[in-house]
Amino acid sequence: MGKALEGVRILDFTHVQSGPTCTQLLAWFGADVIKVERPGEGDATRGQLRDIPDVDSLYFTMLNHNKRSITLNTKSPKGKEVLVKLIRHCDVLVENFAPGALDRMGFTWEHIQELNPRMILASIKGFGPGPYVDCKVYENVAQCTGGAASTTGDPDDIPMVTGAQIGDSGTGLHLALGIVTALLHREKSGRGQRVTAAMQDAVLNLCRVKLRDQQRLERTGVLKEYPQYPDIEFGDAVPRAGNASGGGQPGAILKCKGWQKDPNAYIYFITQAAVWADICRVIGEEDWITNPHFATPEARLPHLKMIFARIEEWTKTKTKFEAMDILNAFDIPCGPILSMKEIAEDSSLRDTGTVVQVDHPTRGSYLSVGNPIKLSDSPTEVTRSPLLGEHSSEILELLGYSADEIGIMKNERVV
Ligand code: COA
Repeated sequence: MGKALEGVRILDFTHVQSGPTCTQLLAWFGADVIKVERPGEGDATRGQLRDIPDVDSLYFTMLNHNKRSITLNTKSPKGKEVLVKLIRHCDVLVENFAPGALDRMGFTWEHIQELNPRMILASIKGFGPGPYVDCKVYENVAQCTGGAASTTGDPDDIPMVTGAQIGDSGTGLHLALGIVTALLHREKSGRGQRVTAAMQDAVLNLCRVKLRDQQRLERTGVLKEYPQYPDIEFGDAVPRAGNASGGGQPGAILKCKGWQKDPNAYIYFITQAAVWADICRVIGEEDWITNPHFATPEARLPHLKMIFARIEEWTKTKTKFEAMDILNAFDIPCGPILSMKEIAEDSSLRDTGTVVQVDHPTRGSYLSVGNPIKLSDSPTEVTRSPLLGEHSSEILELLGYSADEIGIMKNERVV
């Protein structure tokens, strides 16, 4: 059986992180992804954050696996001619240029539809229609405008962005779902359509629980599972909640053995109501099982700081892995704070292909994150990212150009 998206052709006009995340996923599912890059320079990330001189950066290689690369000056007449052929050849055009760039290049949605009525045009922009529609946006701008930064961080400190790339990779994931949905719809309608995902919208979607809390706060004036309760008065907007769980089951990050020297000797501990009695037994507070101050989730809310301080006395006597083993035996939900070093060395993540070792002709061997989505009949094989323009000639041949014509295009720096 072939790969799930085998036969689907993607014209990949993406750059930096958000768009490339999307097209990499489609490539992992088997689509033929043709990445179009500017001659001579390519995707800016090829040269950013380099750890080896003159070698494609990890930033680029880790976001562009399983793709082919063609260089093309799409602002030259000949380049436009090639782009027209690519649009006719492909099923989906994915782009994350600054607002208006594709139009300025001469490829409006109307024109693309004329060229190929089955084409799906998928775009990532910073904002949807509104006052900021024309703005360029990077990751942290999206985190700030999508509600993540105002709700992340310590209660008494400044707004905080998270290392998880929810603006870029998060939006890329949203767009990928939009594309496969449009492909499925095309089976019935016979026509392509526009798919757009704004980074602000995607971040907000991932911060859905905070809009939930905003409305709870407006109705009741209080968020009892937040660390501010019961000591500090709430304002009119959802505050930052430190490491409080954000769900119906209170949680906290607690110190484990070795925390004085190891910045990651911590565990996330959830006092799930269903296992409260076991938690009490593990930490040696059997009395709390029936004590009316602790016996129910509602009764515990005003005492959460004290409860977690007592549990921490116990976790401090165990390493994070010892604590995990003991707690798991009682089905108590918890998780050690894993460093990137620990994750990179985790054999089970290697076994499932979530962490993969990839060979690259100029870089050598490096680690990457594989496909986190596993299909039973269409497993992912991660192959290295393309060198700049590595597949220009073969793609131009596929479009019907002769070797002589390709040579002229190369001389004239069209490709
Ligand atoms: N041939 C010729 N020109 C090309 C080209 C090619 N193959 N590929 C791109 N270009 C041109 C574009 O047409 C554009 O020209 P124009 O400004 O004259 O219209 C120019 O290169 C620059 O493109 P742009 O997208 O504006 O790049 P930038 O580096 O200035 O901005 C971003 C980068 C990410 C801020 C911007 O693209 C953006 O806001 N994108 C949408 C949101 C997004 O995805 N952000 C997250 C990125 S991780």
